[in-house]
Amino acid sequence: MRKVMEYRSHETRYRLEKVGRIASMLHMDVLLLIYHFAKFGAGNVLEIGPYIGGSTIAAAFGARESGSLKKIISIEIGGRLKHFRIPSRNIIKDLKKNLARFGVLEDVTLINGPSFDEKTSSAVRQTLGSGEVGLFIFDADDNVRRDLDCYGDLLAHGCWLVIDDYFGPEPKAAPLRAQVDELVSAGRLIPFGYYGWGTWIGQWQRK
Ligand SMILES: C[S@@+](CC[C@H](N)C(=O)[O-])C[C@H]1O[C@@H](n2cnc3c(N)ncnc32)[C@H](O)[C@@H]1O
Repeated sequence: MRKVMEYRSHETRYRLEKVGRIASMLHMDVLLLIYHFAKFGAGNVLEIGPYIGGSTIAAAFGARESGSLKKIISIEIGGRLKHFRIPSRNIIKDLKKNLARFGVLEDVTLINGPSFDEKTSSAVRQTLGSGEVGLFIFDADDNVRRDLDCYGDLLAHGCWLVIDDYFGPEPKAAPLRAQVDELVSAGRLIPFGYYGWGTWIGQWQRK
């Protein structure tokens, strides 16, 4: 929290504010933490549910400023969404447009498909190996457990996890919270804190 407060009056916040306004549903504190983990955490980034790119751009800025080469893999099913502030009639098209606008299109490997699809998971595995992910961002549907069952072996011990909609009015919050709490009880996730409007942040424990 101290770091988040420092960032709030740092130039990073002004950069990410523009990103948030144009391309993210996430709270500024969460974008700052994604940036921070991508910059200072070890390993690559795996994201599920970028929508039109806000979280992805925050991660790409952090990864670029980390001083080491990091892969960013982002999985988006695509389609359209009537969001009150940032609607999209073509999510993949707008996602690519925003990544290009903020100069990070080349830094991100986009996979267009559902996270649970066999084709998607084999595309991810062509790029990432076991224990290579240091930041896992999940901001998709109501089933983070399904994707952790599928991609958990790629996550390093201590990998940071950003899971949105742990709290909030969205119908997906209750099932997500139950899954996260169960994984915490089972010792697979270690909670770090709750940020923004309902984002859970914690770390992965390998078996
Ligand atoms: C809440 S939005 C993500 C918001 C984004 N992270 C941001 O910074 O504003 C959720 C996105 O996840 C996508 N999505 C939902 N379920 C998915 C799945 N199983 N695989 C891939 N993408 C999915 C949706 O199409 C949507 O674009």
